[in-house]
Amino acid sequence: MESLRDVLIEELRDLYDAEKQLVKALPKMAKAAGNEDLRTAFENHLEETKGHVQRLEQAFELLEEKAKSKPCEAMKGLIAEGSETMEEDFSEPLLDSAIICAAQKVEHYEIAGYGTVAAWSRALGLENVAELLEQTLEEEKAADEKLTEVAGGIIAEAGAAASSDEEEEGDTVGVGSAQKKGSSNRSSPDNKSKRRTG
Ligand SMILES: [Fe+2]
Ligand SMILES: [Fe+2]
Repeated sequence: MESLRDVLIEELRDLYDAEKQLVKALPKMAKAAGNEDLRTAFENHLEETKGHVQRLEQAFELLEEKAKSKPCEAMKGLIAEGSETMEEDFSEPLLDSAIICAAQKVEHYEIAGYGTVAAWSRALGLENVAELLEQTLEEEKAADEKLTEVAGGIIAEAGAAASSDEEEEGDTVGVGSAQKKGSSNRSSPDNKSKRRTG
């Protein structure tokens, strides 16, 4: 017979896989970010994410369960969408904004997952497991807030650049500018066309 404990373990296995996928994805997101604060935010969250993997391993240990992962299709999809975004031919502030959107979807998935497993652990009287999960939950929330803050800065900067462009023809790229920046540090794939003729 299935119990809440079984459901908890299933969900922890999903999160364990999700976190391990993120350990691989976050360096790519950091590399794709043009804005320095954004890159730093991803690099910092990568370190935290490695800690999330370890906390889950500790949780399995406390539960006397093997640390096993269950393929997290949702995270796979979120990361795939994020990768598509990173290949878009947008100017830097727009690309960064779109990457932040993808990253915040990931954080919200994690917040939902950890909020639930922490609550279930409390309900089961597993206080030490709950504490571990709540620590991670707080870091996910802080990461989400940091991204909101960085996004605001990017939009404000791009907006200011766009209006100073209008006033004195500055050389910065603003929101809405179709101009492509040659200095962007992302690779530009040359096989972007989805349709093939022939
Ligand atoms: Fe995480
Ligand atoms: Fe996260």
